[in-house]
Amino acid sequence: MSLAEIKDSYAEYADWIHRFDWLAHLVTGRYRRTRFGDVDGKILDVACGTGTNFRYLPETVELVGIDISPEMLARAEDRLTELDTDGTLLQMDAQNLDFADDSFDAVISSLSTCTFPDPVAALREMSRVCKPEGTIRLVEHGRSDVRPIASYQEWRTDAHYAQTGCRWDQRPRDVVAEAGLTVQDTTTGLFGMITTFEIDPDGGDG
Ligand SMILES: C[S@@+](CC[C@H](N)C(=O)[O-])C[C@H]1O[C@@H](n2cnc3c(N)ncnc32)[C@H](O)[C@@H]1O
Repeated sequence: MSLAEIKDSYAEYADWIHRFDWLAHLVTGRYRRTRFGDVDGKILDVACGTGTNFRYLPETVELVGIDISPEMLARAEDRLTELDTDGTLLQMDAQNLDFADDSFDAVISSLSTCTFPDPVAALREMSRVCKPEGTIRLVEHGRSDVRPIASYQEWRTDAHYAQTGCRWDQRPRDVVAEAGLTVQDTTTGLFGMITTFEIDPDGGDG
């Protein structure tokens, strides 16, 4: 799907995703809490969607969220109000971030690389805008390591992609490796469908 098609698709799904936010917390909350709960300073949430990650961040962070979809960003704005917290939300393409190099102490992103037309470009952008001494944290979903689930995903991959623009049989570790990023820590859960990462933007050189 093109970026414009993805934007249209999320315009259609924004309300539904917002309404089923409780399900996202139920299924992925603990992975978000573990990966994002200790970030500090100026934080960028790339493809922040309806703001599902916001409640897992420490209250002290200076939050910036970007997304391509204005409808998703409107729900994220509601989320900030609900949580009585501050943040700056901007419409932007993750593959071409409009920030200077080394702008953020931490860059976080969840359930996003499956949807970016060019996930490698987006990961390289995350690395560029993160300070060398900072951290990149991801919670991604992909192909299960349980055979019957993976077979179902394979069978439905094209239909799922056509409907949502999501490559749900992707292998997040391969995508991160292709971007040339240095993984400090990674975990899997939910039958292998969730992979989390702590990435060193400096590649261990700093
Ligand atoms: C599955 S949702 C995940 C949202 C949120 N991060 C979460 O964990 O619930 C994927 C999000 O990626 C956004 N997105 C897709 N392509 C994008 C791009 N190129 N730049 C910025 N956002 C993008 C969509 O608008 C959508 O909000």
